[in-house]
Amino acid sequence: MSSNLFGTKSLARIIAESEGGEHHLKKTLGPVNLVALGIGAIIGAGLFSLTGIAAADNAGPAVVLSFVVAAIGCAFAGMCYSEFSTMIPIAGSAYTYAYATMGELLAWIIGWDLVLEYAVGAATVSVSWSSYVVKLLHSFSIELPPSLVHCPWDPIPGIINLPAVLVVCAISLLLIIGISESAKVNAVIVVVKVAIVIIVIAVGYSYIKPENYVPFIPPNTGKFGEFGISGIFRAAAVIFFAYIGFDAVSTAAQEAKKPQRDMPIGIIGSLVVCTVLYILFARVLTGMVNYKVFHGDASPVATVIALFPSVALQTTIVVGIIAGYTSVILVMLLGQSRVFFSMSKDGLLPAVFSDIHPKFQTPWRCNMIFMVFVSLFSGFLPISKLGHMTSIGTLLAFVIVCIGIIWMRKTNPNAPRPYRTPLVPFVPIGGVLVCLAMMFSLDSDTWIRLVVWLALGLCIYFTYGVKNSHLRKAPIDKR
Ligand code: ALA
Repeated sequence: MSSNLFGTKSLARIIAESEGGEHHLKKTLGPVNLVALGIGAIIGAGLFSLTGIAAADNAGPAVVLSFVVAAIGCAFAGMCYSEFSTMIPIAGSAYTYAYATMGELLAWIIGWDLVLEYAVGAATVSVSWSSYVVKLLHSFSIELPPSLVHCPWDPIPGIINLPAVLVVCAISLLLIIGISESAKVNAVIVVVKVAIVIIVIAVGYSYIKPENYVPFIPPNTGKFGEFGISGIFRAAAVIFFAYIGFDAVSTAAQEAKKPQRDMPIGIIGSLVVCTVLYILFARVLTGMVNYKVFHGDASPVATVIALFPSVALQTTIVVGIIAGYTSVILVMLLGQSRVFFSMSKDGLLPAVFSDIHPKFQTPWRCNMIFMVFVSLFSGFLPISKLGHMTSIGTLLAFVIVCIGIIWMRKTNPNAPRPYRTPLVPFVPIGGVLVCLAMMFSLDSDTWIRLVVWLALGLCIYFTYGVKNSHLRKAPIDKR
């Protein structure tokens, strides 16, 4: 039993299974496409919502330092993702990497944990989307009833966040009928998002009042994570959400023309571009108004651009943000269905998650189930709780991927590695330490939710997965 729990799928088997599959992906993506893909998945609610909330509640103007801390953790993890993605260049990301290195149990844990990154992450973005839509309609003097745009736990309590639910349902239905993002649409959205960030930085710069930066690090309130150094780290864990998505580049490894060269460029390149933009953006945002103004505000950009004299510019920025979010939600819901599809194909989840629609050729039941699941989160939970859950879940996945690199170097020292993470084991250990520091900066409620979620996952694994795993039915690979 215990050896089965740690049974791994060999690299040869994983690659053979992917090549034998009906989905044979064309190798069309070059480095520029991959950086664009990354930026398309990365810039979203983390920047346009959580920057303000993290400044108001945790770090004050020092939120710029939080962006640096989170970027360091992501850079270390990003190099580890790059090694795996060139070694195992198939869709499935961290779940597949774990299956190849650390065995079925850890693969299960990571696959289950990725629900927090993708499904709960999609819910987080949808709540921010809703907030910007409400502000946009307000600018046209259209008011939605507060009880239908706030969840029961918001500062202004409501019944349900209906726009957030509607956007999740709409995008899930698009996925079911098979409209996944085309490279061209993605390119347009990337240009729009980057343009918005640059416009806010460039125009907002002249509205900065130096007094808003004082105190740069507000004193600790007596509570861990509220200002002071602990606040900078908690804010790093919160705005870490803004970097999530670069790992989406690794899921495109099968479509890269030269994965060994292009994957690291795609992953690290999109991270570098975003880090520079984020630091400048956060600096401008916290300079335009006092950070306290952002408390409980899921649309801080709308708040600061209200200072801009041109209403047309304000509207353009908000419309751009709303449009840009749709691609993030789409990528996340797509990523979610891919991971559960792979887990179901491996027998760890029921076949319903890999049922293909006869006409649309999409895993439609899986999409439907997640439509309901994500809608419940979108409709009834506030953005900060959702964001914290997404961050802790993704940080855990990063920690496991970093450990996986060290593990893989020991267990498969001679496997071809087109890209090698530099300075192993220091870079992966650095990734583990920085990501753990962010995880431990999050509040105890978030930890309890993580533990409950993982415990639920383990119950399902031991009652269903162990009995149905295909790897257990077929001989276990020798390492
Ligand atoms: N990084 C993505 C966002 O901020 C998930 O929306």
